[in-house]
Amino acid sequence: MLHTKPPVAPTYPVVPECGQIPLRGDPMTGDRYYSREFAQAEWDRMWTRVWHVGGRLAQLEEAGDYIVHNFLKESVVMMRQEDGSVRAFYNSCQHRGNKLAWTESGGVTDGLRCSYHGWLWGLDGVLRDVQDPDDFAGGSPCGKLKLKEVPCDTWGGFIWYSMDPQAKPLLDYLHPIPDLLAGRGMDDLVRVVWRTVKVNTNWKFSPDNFNESYHLPTVHPQMRQMIDEDYRNTTFDMFPNGHNRMIEQGQPSMRADFPNMVEPVWEMMLADWDLDPKAFQGRSREGRRALQEAKRRLGAERGYGYFDAMLDDELTDYFHHTLFPNVTMTGTPDGLHFFRTEPLASDPEWCTFDYWYLVPRMEGREEVATVYGMRPYEEAEHEVSTYGEGVGGHHLGDFIDQDLSVAVAQQQGFHSRGYSDPHLSGQESRVRRFHEVLNDYLEGRR
Ligand code: FES
Ligand SMILES: [Fe+2]
Repeated sequence: MLHTKPPVAPTYPVVPECGQIPLRGDPMTGDRYYSREFAQAEWDRMWTRVWHVGGRLAQLEEAGDYIVHNFLKESVVMMRQEDGSVRAFYNSCQHRGNKLAWTESGGVTDGLRCSYHGWLWGLDGVLRDVQDPDDFAGGSPCGKLKLKEVPCDTWGGFIWYSMDPQAKPLLDYLHPIPDLLAGRGMDDLVRVVWRTVKVNTNWKFSPDNFNESYHLPTVHPQMRQMIDEDYRNTTFDMFPNGHNRMIEQGQPSMRADFPNMVEPVWEMMLADWDLDPKAFQGRSREGRRALQEAKRRLGAERGYGYFDAMLDDELTDYFHHTLFPNVTMTGTPDGLHFFRTEPLASDPEWCTFDYWYLVPRMEGREEVATVYGMRPYEEAEHEVSTYGEGVGGHHLGDFIDQDLSVAVAQQQGFHSRGYSDPHLSGQESRVRRFHEVLNDYLEGRR
C-alpha cells in the first residue's frame, strides 16, 4: 500500500529559556559526598523544601489505597480520596506519635487505625474514632484532630509531595520538564520494572552521572554502535529551576570500531523496521533519518500509535532530563527510564538507587523488552537488593551495573587528600550547574 502522508510531526515545544546558564565555578570538594554536616544541611535546607516523587498514580486504584514514602527518618503516606484526588500526610499518629502505616502500600476502607491505642484517622486525615472519648478534657477529639497534611499533587502519572508548606506549585517547580515530555503520554505509562538497590555511594553520584555523556566511551563501550555520545552532536540545556536536559542522537558513534559500517546492534535496529542494513554500509549514520521515516510509515500498523504524538527525533534519540535534585527521566522511542537516588538515614555514603522502566500502552502486547529481558506488560512488583551482595541478586542490568561500579569507586576517591575539585570539560557543565543549584538551596539563594 502506498502510504500517502505521515502524520504531521509536532514541533519542539517552545522553551524560550533553553540553553546555557553561566556558572560561578563553585568548588565541589570531596567532603560534600561524605560529610555528615553537609548531609544535615541538605536535609535542613534542600530535601525538606523540594518536591519528591512518592510513587505512581497506578498504585492507588481505589479510595483508601495508600502508599508510603520513607525519606531519611521522615515518612509520608499518600492516600486516594473518595473524590479520586490524592492527599499526603506525615505518617505519624497525632495521639502519641506512633508510625501509622508500616507497609509500602495498602488499602483501607474507613481509614488508618493506629496500632498503639487504636485511634482511627479517616481517608481525609480527620480523626474518626478513639477509645474512651469521654475521658478527654474538652470532649471527644474526634472530628477535631487531623493528621498533619503536606502539599501533594500529580503530574505525569507520578504522585509528588513536598515537606514545605510554602512549596511553589508542582508545575512551576518542574517547569519546563512537563512541556518537554508532553508527547510521551506520561499519564498512561505502565511501570514494567521497579527496582531499588542499596549502593555504597553518596546520592549525588546519580545527578552527576546523568548530567554528562562523557563517560559513555569508557563505561558503556557497547553503546557506541547505536548512541552517538559525541558532544558536538549532543544538545545540552540548562533551565532556571535547576533542571537540565541532554539529547543524544540515536546513531553509531564516530568512536565505534568501524564508525561508518553497520555493526550488529545497529543492523538489528535497522532490520527491525524493514530497512536493509547492507544499504547503509559505509554510511551507517544515515540510518537515523531512515529509521525515523520508517517508524512514521509503519508505526501505526505495528501498534505504535503513540508515535503520532512524538517528534521525529524522539523516534530515534535519547532525551535525558535531570530534574533537580535527584530524578532522571530518559525518554527513548520505546519508553521512559526513571532513575533516582535517595540518601540513607544511617550514612551519607550510602544511598538507594531506583530504576523504573515505564512504557506506553500498546494494543494486544503481552510482553515488553527490558534490560532484564522480556517482562510481562503489567505493573511490576518492587524488587529490592543491595549492590555487590548476593549471587546474581544485585545485578541491575548491563548499563546500570556499569554506572554503579564507577559510583562506588568514585566515592572512595573522594576521600583522598589528593582530590580537591573536578577539572571539567565543557560538556560536563551541567555537573557543576547541579552543585551550584544545590548550593543555592544550602546558602539561602533559593
Ligand atoms: S499513638 Fe496512635 S493511638 Fe496512641
Ligand atoms: Fe552511564
